[in-house]
Amino acid sequence: MSRSGPGDAVPGVTVPDTDPRDRLKRDAAVHAVTAEVRDGMVVGLGTGTTAAFAIEELGRLVRERGWRIRGVPTSEQAAALGRRAGIVLTTLEETPDVVIDGADQVDPALNLVKGGGGAHVREKLLALAARRVAIVADCHKLVAQLRGPIPLEVVPFAEPWVTRALPDRWPGGVARLRLRDGRPVRSDNGNLLMDLECGTIADPAAGAAVLDGVSGIVDHGLFVGLADVVYVAGADGVRRLSGERRRP
Ligand code: A5P
Repeated sequence: MSRSGPGDAVPGVTVPDTDPRDRLKRDAAVHAVTAEVRDGMVVGLGTGTTAAFAIEELGRLVRERGWRIRGVPTSEQAAALGRRAGIVLTTLEETPDVVIDGADQVDPALNLVKGGGGAHVREKLLALAARRVAIVADCHKLVAQLRGPIPLEVVPFAEPWVTRALPDRWPGGVARLRLRDGRPVRSDNGNLLMDLECGTIADPAAGAAVLDGVSGIVDHGLFVGLADVVYVAGADGVRRLSGERRRP
């Protein structure tokens, strides 16, 4: 996130971000907002540290330029950041013109692993509902091949069965409950979060189809063919990778 320090008060002195990766995240997010968002749009507000910079930039446009942006949040975290930024929140009753969201991994075909923050169910709904999906990432998120863990959101009643059933359906796969301070982590929807350890994912579409077919899994973090564009920030600037969205 943006950082301020004592140097802010000294004319002509800029305090650098203490975390260079934060600077990359902000570069990608600001670039995406500039390229993708116009006054009056309905924008899907993504979850995570990179998407937070996009929400911050949208808030700046609302405050400083009077833009009328309405935001559909992908999580309670995104809703809180959106509110704080002065963005009017709405729901999927309105079709988002674009969703700007982060990712944990991006492969060369722009398939994604998402859900490190446990928001992948609403994130996928927004990605499916939006007219356009823009992903923001720093260059560390680019991978030659996606790999586990794949985040899962699981109905609590189904958790023991999902744990037993997955290795049959995904050979070598082991689903583990996500824990924080020794306690199971719940999603914003009240379900359990799990992570499927599975090594490299040779065929993301086939993997997604397997997980789509397991009752009790509400949704998973494999996003196949959903990204229209990925803005990736590296030391040499922001690159725009565009894909061919293959709507399910
Ligand atoms: C939230 O559930 C995730 O899908 C995030 O979008 C993803 O984990 C990226 O988060 P960061 O931008 O914090 O790395």
